[in-house]
Amino acid sequence: MRSFTSQLLGVPLLMWTASASPLHTARDSAGINWTPCEFPNATLPIQCANLSVPLDYTSSNSSETMTLPVFRVQAAVDEGSKKGSILYNCGGPGADCLNDLISWGDVLQASTGGYHDIVTFTPRGTGKTLKFNCFPDDLSRALGMPALVGNASDVAVGETWAKSILYGNTCAAAQNKTGNLIGTAFVARDMMQIVDALQEDGLLRYWDHMLTTVDVGISYGTLLGETVLGMFPDRVDKILLDGVVNPFQYYANLETETLVDADATFEGFCKGCVENPDVCPLAKNQTAEQLQESIYTFLEQLRLNPIPTPQGSLLDYSTVKGALLYVNLKFPSLWPSIAKKLDALMNGSLPTGIGGGDSSTVSPSSPDALYGIKCGDTFTENQTLEDVLPILESRINGNRIAGEVNAPSICANWKIRAKERYSGDFRVKPLNPALIIGNTYDPVTPLVSARNVSETFEGSVLLQHDSYGHTTLMQASLCTAKAIRAYFVRGELPQPGTKCEIDTFPFARTNGWDDVKPRLAAEPIQPKQ
Ligand SMILES: *[C@@H]1O[C@H](CO)[C@@H](O)[C@H](O)[C@H]1NC(C)=O
Ligand SMILES: *[C@@H]1O[C@H](CO)[C@@H](O)[C@H](O)[C@H]1NC(C)=O
Ligand SMILES: *[C@@H]1O[C@H](CO)[C@@H](O)[C@H](O)[C@H]1NC(C)=O
Ligand SMILES: *[C@@H]1O[C@H](CO)[C@@H](O)[C@H](O)[C@H]1NC(C)=O
Ligand SMILES: *[C@@H]1O[C@H](CO)[C@@H](O)[C@H](O)[C@H]1NC(C)=O
Ligand SMILES: *[C@@H]1O[C@H](CO)[C@@H](O)[C@H](O)[C@H]1NC(C)=O
Ligand SMILES: *[C@@H]1O[C@H](CO)[C@@H](O)[C@H](O)[C@H]1NC(C)=O
Ligand SMILES: *[C@@H]1O[C@H](CO)[C@@H](O)[C@H](O)[C@H]1NC(C)=O
Ligand SMILES: *[C@@H]1O[C@H](CO)[C@@H](O)[C@H](O)[C@H]1NC(C)=O
Repeated sequence: MRSFTSQLLGVPLLMWTASASPLHTARDSAGINWTPCEFPNATLPIQCANLSVPLDYTSSNSSETMTLPVFRVQAAVDEGSKKGSILYNCGGPGADCLNDLISWGDVLQASTGGYHDIVTFTPRGTGKTLKFNCFPDDLSRALGMPALVGNASDVAVGETWAKSILYGNTCAAAQNKTGNLIGTAFVARDMMQIVDALQEDGLLRYWDHMLTTVDVGISYGTLLGETVLGMFPDRVDKILLDGVVNPFQYYANLETETLVDADATFEGFCKGCVENPDVCPLAKNQTAEQLQESIYTFLEQLRLNPIPTPQGSLLDYSTVKGALLYVNLKFPSLWPSIAKKLDALMNGSLPTGIGGGDSSTVSPSSPDALYGIKCGDTFTENQTLEDVLPILESRINGNRIAGEVNAPSICANWKIRAKERYSGDFRVKPLNPALIIGNTYDPVTPLVSARNVSETFEGSVLLQHDSYGHTTLMQASLCTAKAIRAYFVRGELPQPGTKCEIDTFPFARTNGWDDVKPRLAAEPIQPKQ
């Protein structure tokens, strides 16, 4: 078994001195004992196992371990024809990727040609192990968590800032034992533990995505992929990043880039709506521009007149703009139902079930985990409101629908730092080039970030998926699917500059996969040699 000691990147001296304490080395792996598990609605059978991994990789003499739940969908081909497993991670941070495997196992398998087992796991902080939770119940969280969008009035920015201080203190007190063990560098090491335990070629094949809907999450999977590649460039066979985070801005808590395509995505929502009035009751014989302005006018009214609900909550500017509208711009398949809810609100009736995403598909992972991981990763000690204001201003300027999303204030006031943080510059040359995919209009991980990362990792190729929303599988494209399959099965990259059309459209009743899957199967490909 290989050990991790050759990669000692990214640990600030403050936290831990590399020379003094080598990281926990991988123990001889006894493999993974897979057992069938019951998920009645899974598109393909799923196997489960528990893997024991070091609790704290920076504590060399600690033998404490934790349990990492792992899951897989097996390759379609027989054992002898299998290629190495692909490790899959979804978004968040804070999402449990098991849901993706349950709902999308068949698509993940089709997109990789059926040659690979698809393995996923419940990352630290999210599942039962080390669950990052700051509040005893949902009501306390509703009161204690800063609003998602924070410029509803001229006092809102200051109030969000102050609430972020309280939130940071609450989490620091609630998570003072294991809150610093859930950072991305440790998750990267967990992934290498899985790779070792799989007992294949000792190399990672990685695919990130975001299929289940998670509130304010980014495609954290790409950040994780970027980090694992930065830490272990010589242990990564293939890596596909889809919905790409700018890792420099993420780690610096200076995310000015993330929202730059949000307005264009919202324009796409309005355009798709008026072009498909049969599934979009908001259309009402308006132009896309008129619809957009009528939605903004309604939001302005909400600023002054929040709507009390019979359930005892408020539908206010922040909730509707942030949790109903902005967050769901990521998921074109939900646009018809979002339009219906918005229409009901605008005509004075009260829709039910307004919150982030389609909660029916989200496992009960803690919303605090998102910040526990993201803010713990960042290198922002003692940021002041004066430091953060220019970031907020630059996000607000030119980002009408999403500019006010206020995450920088939360991370600026975070008290728990991850024990290990990657501080390298990502300028590495992986064993094989990475495949980087960006959507044309993604409200949270814009194409410009994908371009940045493709220029950072030596040899990688950028593919543009010509779609709205966040990540590619949500709006199927035969062209993209074939590129992904050729990458994993044959190690072939698309031509630089490739742009793939999608085989569906916004406000279609379908995500296009029922059409694309058989077409993909009709053109099978073979691995090399
Ligand atoms: C499975 O799907 C059915 C029908 O959609 C649904 O009623 C049921 O709750 C689902 N079960 C699980 C465990 O998700
Ligand atoms: C993994 O461990 C948990 C308890 O920690 C247990 O509930 C679960 O059944 C185990 N799963 C497997 C596949 O052994
Ligand atoms: C690890 O070793 C150091 C010094 O040898 C000791 O001070 C510390 O308590 C040990 N920690 C654990 C968890 O055993
Ligand atoms: C963690 O918080 C608990 C409860 O507030 C407290 O009793 C304990 O002393 C704290 N532990 C540390 C290491 O600060
Ligand atoms: C839609 O608007 C156009 C132009 O304003 C108008 O001519 C047409 O009658 C309208 N149709 C309906 C169904 O209201
Ligand atoms: C309000 O909007 C909802 C959702 O589109 C629709 O079902 C309902 O009929 C509308 N009510 C009125 C009074 O227009
Ligand atoms: C942050 O502030 C604390 C308390 O004032 C101080 O002890 C610490 O050194 C500061 N950290 C940095 C990186 O400036
Ligand atoms: C917030 O909104 C006010 C108007 O309500 C505006 O003047 C200000 O520039 C906005 N941005 C910030 C960061 O406060
Ligand atoms: C990527 O983004 C970072 C942070 O914005 C910037 O400093 C860097 O120059 C960019 N790299 C490329 C290749 O565009």
